[in-house]
Amino acid sequence: MLSKQTIDIIKSTVPVLEVHGTTITKRFYQLLFTAHPELLHMFNHANQTKGRQQTALANAVYAAALHIDKLEMILPAVKQIAHKHRSLGVKAEHYPIVGQMLLTAIKDVLGDAATEEILGAWAEAYGIIANVFIETEAEMYKQAEQQNGGWADYRAFRVERKVRESDVITSFYLVPEDGGALPAFEPGQYVSVKVHIPGETYTHIRQYSLSGGPGKPYYRISVKREDEFPNRPGGKVSRYLHEQINQADVLWLSAPAGHFTLDRMDTRPVVLISGGVGLTPLVSMLSTLTESHSDRPVTFIHAAQNASVHALRSEVEELASRASQVSLYWCYDKPTEDDRAAQAFHKEGYIDLPWLQDVVPTKDASFYFCGPEPFMRMVFGLLKEWGVASEDIHYEFFGPSGSLEAAPETTAQPQETASAQG
Ligand SMILES: Cc1cc2nc3c(=O)[nH]c(=O)nc-3n(C[C@H](O)[C@H](O)[C@H](O)COP(=O)(O)OP(=O)(O)OC[C@H]3O[C@@H](n4cnc5c(N)ncnc54)[C@H](O)[C@@H]3O)c2cc1C
Ligand code: HEM
Repeated sequence: MLSKQTIDIIKSTVPVLEVHGTTITKRFYQLLFTAHPELLHMFNHANQTKGRQQTALANAVYAAALHIDKLEMILPAVKQIAHKHRSLGVKAEHYPIVGQMLLTAIKDVLGDAATEEILGAWAEAYGIIANVFIETEAEMYKQAEQQNGGWADYRAFRVERKVRESDVITSFYLVPEDGGALPAFEPGQYVSVKVHIPGETYTHIRQYSLSGGPGKPYYRISVKREDEFPNRPGGKVSRYLHEQINQADVLWLSAPAGHFTLDRMDTRPVVLISGGVGLTPLVSMLSTLTESHSDRPVTFIHAAQNASVHALRSEVEELASRASQVSLYWCYDKPTEDDRAAQAFHKEGYIDLPWLQDVVPTKDASFYFCGPEPFMRMVFGLLKEWGVASEDIHYEFFGPSGSLEAAPETTAQPQETASAQG
């Protein structure tokens, strides 16, 4: 237990540290990667460049510090982060390294203001916070390994099939190389894929949501190719998967993880809203709902630029055709003349509130959504404006987690508007 004096010091210094939040975490990552370059195998370099990971870490540490005398308050947030840590392979022995670098970073940035007393208090607090993570993750490692067909760390999977789903999205059907069983997963969960790209110094790990329902003899991921633009490089892993990984190649996967899952005990209507490649976890949820013969009314809304980048359309239509209580809606913000002629979509432009209220039977429903961040901010804003209860709003970021309640953390890339993109 921390003494009252230590708790008081922590609480009084949180606002000071928050002011220097990302300066401290940026310094922290410099120190970390200089002393432990091997950790560059684990961290996402693009997230570092864009500053997203620094902000996520800073926010998490300060939230934990603020609640240091009632850590149970932050347990849901800890679990969410722990899912990602477990999926990546973060281990107990990494925590002292991170703790030491964080304290050095605080000292470097605050200078003389970081007294021995303050640093001592933070060292103690970090130890307590780290233990909560270590215990939560130990339980998750155990569960991942001990479940039927489970495994620890990474397991080799063979690409059984590679299927083009749209101009930019391709699916990979993956089966365990060892021929063993596959664990069940919750619809909405993701796997981490670790790749060794020829010519690269470090391995790269990315998360991909499982885009099919559970209970199949394979896992399927559907990956959007992140193309190069004049002002930004192409995506490392997505392009490698698209361009160099083919049938019979091997990929390394950690066991399914993630908190963005369909609540199967809930019996109320469910609304699944996706933009671009954000449809993957929602297709898994839809698949589960239809295959389990649920009688919950389901509204599935997908936004894409147009039919050329609209992935998994026929599969979703086939799923819906088996269940009369499922309604599908396609929103295209850049339909082509062919799309218009074929009446390939239900709404032109972005989703708006009058339209949403028209197609969704009730706001007393569970809403799940995923897509590019500006798209998610728009959907979140509409749901709030409609008065949907906070506990009925569930979303997943395809990058470092953040909160849609807060202002955007980074400026959008030129092509990142509320558009659903591919
Ligand atoms: C829980 C979760 C589930 C996910 N599910 C899916 C899924 O089902 N399907 C899917 O396709 N993706 C999914 N993702 C996203 C996926 O993990 C990858 O982030 C995505 O494939 C891009 O990885 P990449 O290596 O191709 O791009 P990266 O190399 O990581 O680059 C990412 C983006 O940053 C830009 N960038 C890189 N460096 C810079 C720089 N220096 N300056 C400016 N911009 C830069 C790139 O152009 C690219 O657009 C998911 C992510 C999470 C967290
Ligand atoms: C108490 C200590 C820690 C806190 C508060 C913390 C917090 C976070 C947060 C908030 C995220 C983003 C989660 C998300 O996107 O959903 C994250 C991701 C991550 N963490 Fe931690 N973390 C801690 C310790 C560690 C340790 C010890 C390691 C191992 C060296 C580690 C490695 C990572 C990695 C590799 C990611 C993913 C980064 C990326 O994708 O860019 N973390 N952590």
